[in-house]
Parts: sequence; C-alpha cells; structure tokens
Amino acid sequence: MFKIQTLNNISVSGLERLPRERFEIASEISNPDAILVRSADMHKLEIPASVKAIGRAGAGTNNIPVALMSKRGVPVFNAPGANANAVKELVLASMFLAARNIPQSLDFVKKLDGDDKAMHEAVEAGKKKFVGFELPGRTLGVIGLGAIGVKVANAALELGMTVYGYDPAMTVQNAWQLNSGVRQALSVDDLVSKSQFISVHVPLLDATRGLINAERIKLMKKQGVILNFARDAIVDEAAVIEALNAGHLHAYACDFPSNALKGHPKVIATPHLGASTGEAEDNCAVMVADQIREFLELGTIRNSVNFPEAQMPLLPGKTRLCIVNENVPNMVGQISTALAKRQLNIADLLNKSRGDLAYTIVDLDQAVPADAAQEIAAIPGVLATRVIAAR
Ligand SMILES: NC(=O)c1ccc[n+]([C@@H]2O[C@H](COP(=O)([O-])OP(=O)(O)OC[C@H]3O[C@@H](n4cnc5c(N)ncnc54)[C@H](O)[C@@H]3O)[C@@H](O)[C@H]2O)c1
Repeated sequence: MFKIQTLNNISVSGLERLPRERFEIASEISNPDAILVRSADMHKLEIPASVKAIGRAGAGTNNIPVALMSKRGVPVFNAPGANANAVKELVLASMFLAARNIPQSLDFVKKLDGDDKAMHEAVEAGKKKFVGFELPGRTLGVIGLGAIGVKVANAALELGMTVYGYDPAMTVQNAWQLNSGVRQALSVDDLVSKSQFISVHVPLLDATRGLINAERIKLMKKQGVILNFARDAIVDEAAVIEALNAGHLHAYACDFPSNALKGHPKVIATPHLGASTGEAEDNCAVMVADQIREFLELGTIRNSVNFPEAQMPLLPGKTRLCIVNENVPNMVGQISTALAKRQLNIADLLNKSRGDLAYTIVDLDQAVPADAAQEIAAIPGVLATRVIAAR
C-alpha cells in the first residue's frame, strides 16, 4: 500500500489511475510515499523524509525545490505537453484579441446606454476607434519550440502568418512535430528584429529571466505584440509598459496580471488561465499519476525533470533494487560487489545518468537480504535505495 498526499485538487481522472487497493490518497496523510501537486508552493514546506517522488500535474516545476529533491535522491515528475493545446488556444485567442482591439471594444460596448437608436448611432460613430488588422502575412516569432511553442508555430502558419522559431536545444521529438514551413531564426535578436508578434514559450531560468527587455523590444517591428504565456519574469514588464506608452508596441498579452499592468488599455491579461481547461487538467493528472505509479511499483522513470529516463520491464519472480547515487565512477562496481559477495545473481541491470545524478536498477533472482541493502545504502555517494519485492 502506498500513501499519496495531494497538495492541490487533482483531477479525478488522474486519481482513478491509482487504484484504492494499492494507493491511499489524502490531502492530510502521515509519511506519504509521494506528493501530487499543481501550483502549491513547496519551497517553504517541510517535505517528509518518507517522500520518494513528487508529481507536478503541469509543465513548470518552479514551485518545487527540485535541487533539494535531487540531493535527497527524489525524482520530480511533470506532465510535459499535457497542457500544450490549452495554452496554444489561449495564445491564438490573444493574437486575435490584440489584432482586432477586442478587449477595448468590449469595454466600449459595456458602457453604451440610451435606447436602441442611440446605441446604434454610438456604435457606428465609435467603431472607428477599434479598427484592427488581420493576421495573414504578419510575422510571428516563437521563442522556445517545445511542446507549446511547436503547436503555436504550426497553428500560426495555418493562419497564413510567416513564422520564425528559435530554440537552440530543441528535442528531436519536437523537431519531428514542427511544420517545415517554420523558418529558423539564428538568435533571439534575429527573431525579434523580424517579428511583429513575439510569443515566448521557454521555462523561467536564469538565462531566460528578462529575455524580452527594452533593447529587444526596440528591435521589434512597430506596432508589435508581445505574448507571454510562459512566466511573468521572462518579460521585463517595465520595459513593455514604456514601449506601450510610447506607441512602439500595440499590445502586451500575458497570463500574469500585476499592479503595474492593471488597467492599462493596451494590456490583455488573463489570470494564469493557460492550462485551465478540463481537458488539460485531466491530461496532466493522468500522465503524472501514471508516472508516479510506475515509479513506486516498478522503479521506472518517465518524464522526470531531475532524473534520467529509466525503463526496464520487471519480470515475475525478480526482486528489484533501485539505487540513486551521485554520478561518480565505480558505483555500479561497488553495488555489484555487495551483491556478489552474498551470492546474489543479477538477472538484469540498467544504469542511467543525468547531470550529477545516476540511477541504477538491478533485478535479482533472489530476495535482497536486509544487510545487503544496508551495505549498498551506506556506500558514499548513494542518496537513496529501495527494494521492490518480487511479485
Ligand atoms: N500559462 C500557463 O498556464 C502555462 C502552462 C503551461 C506551461 N507554461 C509555461 O510554458 C513554458 C513552456 O512549456 P512547454 O510545455 O512548451 O515546455 P517544453 O519544455 O516542452 O519547451 C520549452 C522549450 O524551451 C526551450 N528553451 C529553453 N531555454 C531557451 C532559450 N534560452 N531560448 C530558446 N529556447 C529555449 C527548450 O529547449 C525547450 O524546447 C513552461 O516552462 C511553463 O513555464 C505556462
């Protein structure tokens, strides 16, 4: 029986992937084996020593102390791409809202009064203020061609836009999804100088904080639109407001309201709605619940942000030993020595590393005696060990 603590409401479709006969799930639970979280800030939380895995039902993990978890040998899982379509649709909606001045026009309509004739006259007189422009032929630059960026780029191309993309570390998987009509920008500056619309789809990292700043906004074509549905600090808000006020930018659409942006007539701010669709919440919860279940039951790793991918089928009758250790030489040697001196036969072995961490799965023909597990746990550099009994 595994105990799962939920720090936020997790979609029922996800929780259903954790059958009650093997998983006890509650928001308050002692010694949880795993934590499921959406947006709760875990940085100030005391995370119990019993926790073996954390699952974030979403893409970003900056509400989780990932570096600390790595030191404790705890994988953090996320649900990459599960909410990509939801974010893409909001980005597209915001491009239309900006191009056609829809938010301002809705405000105008809300304030109309008088009888229908007066209203009709006010509409005909007032609509000139909201003349917009169309998207075909306009240029969109997409920074970050991951799960979301690729979908945005492809959809914009379908709308008849010219699309540039920039991502120096694009995965092969995402490259396969990208429409070949998307043009490659050579740098962020190159992309920005070619674009009237810019959409950022990168994680918030030191390298991406303030990625869109005053200098880059100046490089943009006049009447530009910046779309930020990634993270607030990726765009320098003060620089955006200055450019909006100076008339260089036509609009700033973002998912991150703030006092500085509030009430600005050229700002379209949604309340962090990117992933807020029933479909996205279900997709994220299902993905992350499956990954947590596989890790707890089989020790396998899919879509972790701090651990390597590690998949190996667990055959009936085999005992599995899972070891997290620092990525230093001779760990596998020391582990196999501890097993060999007890005449334990290794049936299969997988060793993967990522950065400073390595993860080893050892399948054995026999049960692992407690002293062998203890000896391995005491090897300098071993961060966590777990034995999964044969079934
Ligand atoms: N508004 C929301 O509700 C919402 C929802 C989901 C995701 N997001 C945000 O969107 C971001 C992107 O999500 P995703 O699912 O597409 O992630 P992803 O990991 O699939 O893609 C991110 C891409 O950014 C690229 N990248 C990283 N640094 C870069 C840089 N300096 N320049 C150019 N490219 C760079 C990576 O190579 C990767 O391909 C997330 O990190 C998250 O912060 C927001």
